[in-house]
Amino acid sequence: MGKYAVASAPGKVILFGEHFVVRGSKSIASAISLRVRVRVERASGDRISVYSERAGVRGDYIGLPDLRASSAKLEPLLGLLGYLREKHGLNPYPARISVESDLPIGAGLGSSAAFAVAFALAYSKLGGLDLTREELVEAGYASERIAHGRPSGIDNTIAVYGGGLLYKRGEKPRRIRIRLPKGFVLVVADSGIPRSTRTVVERVLDRADRLGSISSLIYRAADELADLALEALERGDAGLLGELMDVNQGLLYAMGASSAGLESLLYAARHAGAIGAKLTGAGWGGSVIALAPAASSERVVRALLRAGAREARVVDLGGAGAMLEDCVL
Ligand code: PMV
Repeated sequence: MGKYAVASAPGKVILFGEHFVVRGSKSIASAISLRVRVRVERASGDRISVYSERAGVRGDYIGLPDLRASSAKLEPLLGLLGYLREKHGLNPYPARISVESDLPIGAGLGSSAAFAVAFALAYSKLGGLDLTREELVEAGYASERIAHGRPSGIDNTIAVYGGGLLYKRGEKPRRIRIRLPKGFVLVVADSGIPRSTRTVVERVLDRADRLGSISSLIYRAADELADLALEALERGDAGLLGELMDVNQGLLYAMGASSAGLESLLYAARHAGAIGAKLTGAGWGGSVIALAPAASSERVVRALLRAGAREARVVDLGGAGAMLEDCVL
Protein backbone atom coordinates (compact mmCIF):
# COMPACT_ATOMS: atom_id res chain seq x y z
CA MET A 1 0.00 0.00 0.00
CA GLY A 2 1.14 3.57 -0.71
CA LYS A 3 2.44 5.68 2.12
CA TYR A 4 0.03 8.24 3.48
CA ALA A 5 -0.96 10.24 6.53
CA VAL A 6 -4.31 11.75 7.48
CA ALA A 7 -4.63 14.59 9.98
CA SER A 8 -7.46 16.85 11.04
CA ALA A 9 -7.82 20.16 12.84
CA PRO A 10 -10.81 22.14 14.10
CA GLY A 11 -12.22 25.45 13.00
CA LYS A 12 -12.88 28.15 15.55
CA VAL A 13 -15.16 30.93 16.58
CA ILE A 14 -13.93 34.08 18.19
CA LEU A 15 -16.43 34.68 20.99
CA PHE A 16 -14.99 38.05 22.00
CA GLY A 17 -12.27 40.42 20.85
CA GLU A 18 -11.56 39.92 17.14
CA HIS A 19 -9.80 42.87 15.54
CA PHE A 20 -9.02 44.36 18.95
CA VAL A 21 -6.66 41.43 19.48
CA VAL A 22 -4.53 42.60 16.55
CA ARG A 23 -3.42 45.57 18.64
CA GLY A 24 -3.01 43.76 21.93
CA SER A 25 -6.49 43.48 23.52
CA LYS A 26 -7.57 40.13 24.91
CA SER A 27 -9.66 37.75 22.89
CA ILE A 28 -11.62 34.62 23.74
CA ALA A 29 -11.82 31.90 21.11
CA SER A 30 -13.04 28.36 21.01
CA ALA A 31 -12.59 25.37 18.75
CA ILE A 32 -15.84 24.20 17.16
CA SER A 33 -17.10 20.79 16.20
CA LEU A 34 -16.43 21.40 12.50
CA ARG A 35 -13.08 20.12 11.19
CA VAL A 36 -10.83 20.02 8.16
CA ARG A 37 -9.31 16.64 7.28
CA VAL A 38 -6.20 16.44 5.09
CA ARG A 39 -4.84 13.27 3.51
CA VAL A 40 -1.26 13.40 2.23
CA GLU A 41 -0.12 10.60 -0.03
CA ARG A 42 3.42 10.09 -1.32
CA ALA A 43 3.57 10.53 -5.09
CA SER A 44 6.17 10.47 -7.82
CA GLY A 45 6.94 13.42 -10.08
CA ASP A 46 7.72 17.02 -9.39
CA ARG A 47 4.67 18.49 -7.71
CA ILE A 48 2.44 18.58 -4.68
CA SER A 49 -1.06 18.47 -6.12
CA VAL A 50 -4.11 19.50 -4.13
CA TYR A 51 -7.77 18.46 -4.37
CA SER A 52 -10.47 20.15 -2.35
CA GLU A 53 -14.08 19.92 -3.45
CA ARG A 54 -15.24 22.57 -0.99
CA ALA A 55 -12.51 25.08 -1.98
CA GLY A 56 -12.99 24.39 -5.70
CA VAL A 57 -9.38 23.22 -6.04
CA ARG A 58 -8.96 20.33 -8.45
CA GLY A 59 -5.36 19.43 -9.12
CA ASP A 60 -3.77 22.83 -8.62
CA TYR A 61 -0.20 22.22 -7.57
CA ILE A 62 3.03 23.44 -6.10
CA GLY A 63 5.96 22.80 -8.43
CA LEU A 64 9.10 21.27 -6.93
CA PRO A 65 11.86 21.91 -6.12
CA ASP A 66 11.49 25.63 -6.73
CA LEU A 67 8.18 25.97 -4.80
CA ARG A 68 5.91 27.78 -7.23
CA ALA A 69 2.12 27.73 -6.80
CA SER A 70 0.00 27.12 -9.92
CA SER A 71 -2.79 29.23 -8.39
CA ALA A 72 -3.03 32.01 -5.81
CA LYS A 73 -5.17 29.73 -3.60
CA LEU A 74 -2.11 27.63 -2.83
CA GLU A 75 0.28 30.47 -2.08
CA PRO A 76 -0.14 30.23 1.72
CA LEU A 77 1.30 26.71 1.52
CA LEU A 78 4.54 28.13 0.16
CA GLY A 79 5.15 29.87 3.49
CA LEU A 80 4.47 26.64 5.33
CA LEU A 81 6.71 24.49 3.12
CA GLY A 82 9.43 27.16 3.36
CA TYR A 83 9.12 27.02 7.16
CA LEU A 84 9.44 23.22 7.21
CA ARG A 85 12.50 23.37 4.98
CA GLU A 86 14.29 26.24 6.70
CA LYS A 87 13.48 25.46 10.32
CA HIS A 88 13.32 21.68 10.20
CA GLY A 89 15.35 20.63 7.15
CA LEU A 90 12.36 18.92 5.52
CA ASN A 91 12.82 19.11 1.76
CA PRO A 92 9.44 19.37 0.04
CA TYR A 93 8.59 16.00 -1.51
CA PRO A 94 5.99 15.19 -4.18
CA ALA A 95 2.59 14.29 -2.82
CA ARG A 96 -1.10 14.21 -3.53
CA ILE A 97 -3.21 16.13 -1.04
CA SER A 98 -6.94 15.64 -0.61
CA VAL A 99 -8.98 17.84 1.67
CA GLU A 100 -12.41 17.31 3.22
CA SER A 101 -13.91 20.16 5.16
CA ASP A 102 -16.97 20.58 7.36
CA LEU A 103 -16.15 24.29 7.40
CA PRO A 104 -17.31 26.89 4.94
CA ILE A 105 -14.29 28.52 3.27
CA GLY A 106 -13.39 32.13 3.95
CA ALA A 107 -16.29 32.54 6.35
CA GLY A 108 -14.37 33.57 9.46
CA LEU A 109 -14.39 30.10 10.98
CA GLY A 110 -10.69 29.46 10.59
CA SER A 111 -10.81 27.10 7.62
CA SER A 112 -7.46 28.27 6.23
CA ALA A 113 -5.64 27.78 9.54
CA ALA A 114 -7.30 24.41 10.16
CA PHE A 115 -6.21 23.31 6.69
CA ALA A 116 -2.65 24.62 7.19
CA VAL A 117 -2.25 22.92 10.57
CA ALA A 118 -3.73 19.59 9.45
CA PHE A 119 -1.55 19.71 6.32
CA ALA A 120 1.58 20.55 8.37
CA LEU A 121 0.90 17.64 10.73
CA ALA A 122 0.26 15.04 8.02
CA TYR A 123 2.98 16.24 5.63
CA SER A 124 5.69 16.47 8.29
CA LYS A 125 4.76 13.07 9.73
CA LEU A 126 4.94 11.44 6.32
CA GLY A 127 8.26 13.23 5.75
CA GLY A 128 9.67 11.63 8.91
CA LEU A 129 9.39 14.70 11.11
CA ASP A 130 7.68 14.88 14.51
CA LEU A 131 6.68 18.46 15.21
CA THR A 132 5.83 19.64 18.71
CA ARG A 133 2.55 21.49 19.19
CA GLU A 134 4.44 24.80 19.39
CA GLU A 135 6.14 24.02 16.08
CA LEU A 136 2.79 23.17 14.52
CA VAL A 137 1.50 26.56 15.67
CA GLU A 138 4.51 28.18 13.95
CA ALA A 139 3.97 26.17 10.77
CA GLY A 140 0.33 27.25 10.69
CA TYR A 141 1.35 30.85 11.22
CA ALA A 142 3.80 30.70 8.31
CA SER A 143 0.80 29.91 6.10
CA GLU A 144 -1.61 32.35 7.74
CA ARG A 145 0.83 35.22 7.26
CA ILE A 146 0.57 34.81 3.53
CA ALA A 147 -3.19 34.27 3.61
CA HIS A 148 -4.04 37.20 5.88
CA GLY A 149 -1.20 39.70 6.12
CA ARG A 150 -0.88 40.41 9.84
CA PRO A 151 -2.83 37.69 11.61
CA SER A 152 -2.92 37.70 15.40
CA GLY A 153 -2.22 33.95 15.50
CA ILE A 154 -5.50 32.94 17.12
CA ASP A 155 -6.70 30.70 14.31
CA ASN A 156 -3.58 28.57 13.98
CA THR A 157 -3.18 28.32 17.77
CA ILE A 158 -6.72 27.09 18.30
CA ALA A 159 -6.44 24.72 15.34
CA VAL A 160 -3.47 23.08 17.11
CA TYR A 161 -4.69 23.02 20.73
CA GLY A 162 -8.47 22.89 20.34
CA GLY A 163 -10.49 23.74 23.46
CA GLY A 164 -10.80 27.36 24.45
CA LEU A 165 -8.19 30.07 24.53
CA LEU A 166 -7.72 33.41 26.15
CA TYR A 167 -5.40 35.03 23.68
CA LYS A 168 -3.32 38.15 24.00
CA ARG A 169 -0.66 39.04 21.53
CA GLY A 170 2.88 38.52 22.81
CA GLU A 171 1.71 36.40 25.76
CA LYS A 172 1.49 32.65 26.01
CA PRO A 173 -2.12 31.77 25.12
CA ARG A 174 -4.02 30.63 28.22
CA ARG A 175 -6.04 27.51 27.67
CA ILE A 176 -9.48 27.85 29.19
CA ARG A 177 -12.45 25.59 29.52
CA ILE A 178 -15.39 26.99 27.62
CA ARG A 179 -18.77 25.84 28.74
CA LEU A 180 -21.88 27.71 27.78
CA PRO A 181 -24.43 28.41 30.52
CA LYS A 182 -26.73 25.45 31.07
CA GLY A 183 -29.66 25.40 28.66
CA PHE A 184 -27.97 27.64 26.06
CA VAL A 185 -26.39 26.86 22.71
CA LEU A 186 -24.32 28.71 20.16
CA VAL A 187 -25.73 29.09 16.67
CA VAL A 188 -23.25 29.83 13.87
CA ALA A 189 -24.39 31.17 10.52
CA ASP A 190 -22.39 31.80 7.37
CA SER A 191 -23.71 34.98 5.78
CA GLY A 192 -22.44 33.85 2.39
CA ILE A 193 -21.10 37.37 1.91
CA PRO A 194 -17.53 37.12 0.66
CA ARG A 195 -14.78 39.30 2.05
CA SER A 196 -11.06 39.29 2.51
CA THR A 197 -9.80 39.13 6.09
CA ARG A 198 -6.70 41.01 5.06
CA THR A 199 -8.70 43.95 3.64
CA VAL A 200 -11.06 44.23 6.60
CA VAL A 201 -8.17 44.09 9.07
CA GLU A 202 -6.35 46.83 7.17
CA ARG A 203 -9.45 49.06 7.05
CA VAL A 204 -10.09 48.63 10.76
CA LEU A 205 -6.45 49.46 11.55
CA ASP A 206 -6.64 52.53 9.30
CA ARG A 207 -9.70 53.72 11.19
CA ALA A 208 -7.96 53.00 14.50
CA ASP A 209 -5.05 55.19 13.38
CA ARG A 210 -7.37 58.00 12.27
CA LEU A 211 -9.34 57.95 15.53
CA GLY A 212 -6.28 58.15 17.77
CA SER A 213 -7.26 58.35 21.44
CA ILE A 214 -10.89 57.45 20.70
CA SER A 215 -9.80 54.12 19.30
CA SER A 216 -7.53 53.58 22.31
CA LEU A 217 -10.64 53.84 24.48
CA ILE A 218 -12.56 51.43 22.28
CA TYR A 219 -9.67 48.93 22.30
CA ARG A 220 -9.43 49.22 26.07
CA ALA A 221 -13.16 48.65 26.40
CA ALA A 222 -12.79 45.50 24.29
CA ASP A 223 -9.96 44.30 26.51
CA GLU A 224 -11.99 44.80 29.71
CA LEU A 225 -15.04 43.30 28.06
CA ALA A 226 -13.07 40.08 27.50
CA ASP A 227 -12.28 39.91 31.24
CA LEU A 228 -15.96 40.33 32.11
CA ALA A 229 -16.96 37.76 29.50
CA LEU A 230 -14.55 35.26 30.99
CA GLU A 231 -16.14 35.78 34.41
CA ALA A 232 -19.62 35.45 32.90
CA LEU A 233 -18.57 32.17 31.25
CA GLU A 234 -17.10 30.87 34.49
CA ARG A 235 -20.22 31.80 36.44
CA GLY A 236 -22.58 30.51 33.75
CA ASP A 237 -24.26 33.92 33.60
CA ALA A 238 -26.14 33.70 30.30
CA GLY A 239 -27.81 37.12 30.52
CA LEU A 240 -24.52 38.95 30.97
CA LEU A 241 -22.79 36.84 28.32
CA GLY A 242 -25.46 37.70 25.75
CA GLU A 243 -25.34 41.36 26.66
CA LEU A 244 -21.55 41.40 26.31
CA MET A 245 -21.84 39.82 22.86
CA ASP A 246 -24.13 42.67 21.83
CA VAL A 247 -21.75 45.26 23.27
CA ASN A 248 -18.78 43.62 21.56
CA GLN A 249 -20.74 43.83 18.31
CA GLY A 250 -21.27 47.54 18.98
CA LEU A 251 -17.53 48.07 19.35
CA LEU A 252 -16.87 46.13 16.14
CA TYR A 253 -19.52 48.23 14.40
CA ALA A 254 -17.77 51.36 15.67
CA MET A 255 -14.52 50.20 14.10
CA GLY A 256 -16.20 49.54 10.76
CA ALA A 257 -16.14 45.74 10.79
CA SER A 258 -19.89 45.20 10.39
CA SER A 259 -22.15 45.60 7.37
CA ALA A 260 -25.84 45.92 6.58
CA GLY A 261 -25.96 42.25 5.62
CA LEU A 262 -24.49 41.12 8.94
CA GLU A 263 -26.63 43.50 10.98
CA SER A 264 -29.82 42.13 9.45
CA LEU A 265 -28.76 38.59 10.38
CA LEU A 266 -28.00 39.69 13.95
CA TYR A 267 -31.41 41.36 14.32
CA ALA A 268 -33.14 38.33 12.86
CA ALA A 269 -31.40 36.09 15.42
CA ARG A 270 -32.29 38.40 18.31
CA HIS A 271 -35.93 38.65 17.23
CA ALA A 272 -36.13 34.87 17.09
CA GLY A 273 -34.99 34.56 20.70
CA ALA A 274 -31.20 34.88 20.78
CA ILE A 275 -30.07 36.75 23.89
CA GLY A 276 -26.90 38.06 22.25
CA ALA A 277 -25.39 38.05 18.79
CA LYS A 278 -22.30 39.31 17.03
CA LEU A 279 -20.14 38.82 13.98
CA THR A 280 -17.23 36.43 14.42
CA GLY A 281 -13.90 36.73 12.64
CA ALA A 282 -13.05 39.63 10.39
CA GLY A 283 -16.58 40.83 9.57
CA TRP A 284 -18.13 42.65 6.57
CA GLY A 285 -19.25 39.19 5.53
CA GLY A 286 -18.30 35.77 6.84
CA SER A 287 -20.08 34.41 9.90
CA VAL A 288 -22.19 35.52 12.82
CA ILE A 289 -22.80 33.80 16.16
CA ALA A 290 -25.82 33.93 18.42
CA LEU A 291 -26.34 32.73 21.99
CA ALA A 292 -29.77 31.15 22.19
CA PRO A 293 -31.81 29.21 24.73
CA ALA A 294 -31.69 25.58 23.57
CA ALA A 295 -35.50 25.65 23.31
CA SER A 296 -35.43 28.40 20.67
CA SER A 297 -32.32 27.27 18.76
CA GLU A 298 -34.37 25.88 15.87
CA ARG A 299 -36.28 29.16 15.57
CA VAL A 300 -33.03 31.10 15.52
CA VAL A 301 -31.54 28.81 12.86
CA ARG A 302 -34.66 29.19 10.70
CA ALA A 303 -34.72 32.97 11.17
CA LEU A 304 -31.09 33.25 10.11
CA LEU A 305 -31.71 31.17 7.00
CA ARG A 306 -34.80 33.22 6.15
CA ALA A 307 -32.75 36.40 6.58
CA GLY A 308 -30.34 35.15 3.91
CA ALA A 309 -27.67 33.08 5.69
CA ARG A 310 -26.19 30.38 3.50
CA GLU A 311 -25.78 27.91 6.35
CA ALA A 312 -26.83 28.05 9.99
CA ARG A 313 -26.47 25.44 12.73
CA VAL A 314 -25.79 24.79 16.37
CA VAL A 315 -22.13 23.93 17.00
CA ASP A 316 -20.42 22.37 20.00
CA LEU A 317 -17.60 24.36 21.52
CA GLY A 318 -14.21 23.31 22.72
CA GLY A 319 -13.41 20.03 20.90
CA ALA A 320 -10.06 18.37 20.24
CA GLY A 321 -7.14 20.11 18.55
CA ALA A 322 -5.07 18.86 15.64
CA MET A 323 -4.68 15.11 15.50
CA LEU A 324 -3.15 12.46 13.37
CA GLU A 325 -6.00 10.19 12.38
CA ASP A 326 -4.24 7.52 10.38
CA CYS A 327 -0.90 6.84 8.77
CA VAL A 328 1.03 4.22 6.87
CA LEU A 329 4.72 5.16 6.78
O1 PMV B 1 -12.07 35.98 9.69
P1 PMV B 1 -10.98 35.20 10.29
O2 PMV B 1 -11.36 33.85 10.76
O3 PMV B 1 -9.75 35.15 9.43
O4 PMV B 1 -10.55 35.93 11.67
C1 PMV B 1 -9.93 37.18 11.67
C2 PMV B 1 -9.75 37.59 13.10
C3 PMV B 1 -9.14 38.98 13.25
O5 PMV B 1 -9.07 39.23 14.66
C4 PMV B 1 -9.99 40.03 12.60
C5 PMV B 1 -7.75 39.05 12.67
C6 PMV B 1 -6.74 38.25 13.44
O6 PMV B 1 -5.68 38.02 12.87
O7 PMV B 1 -6.98 37.89 14.61
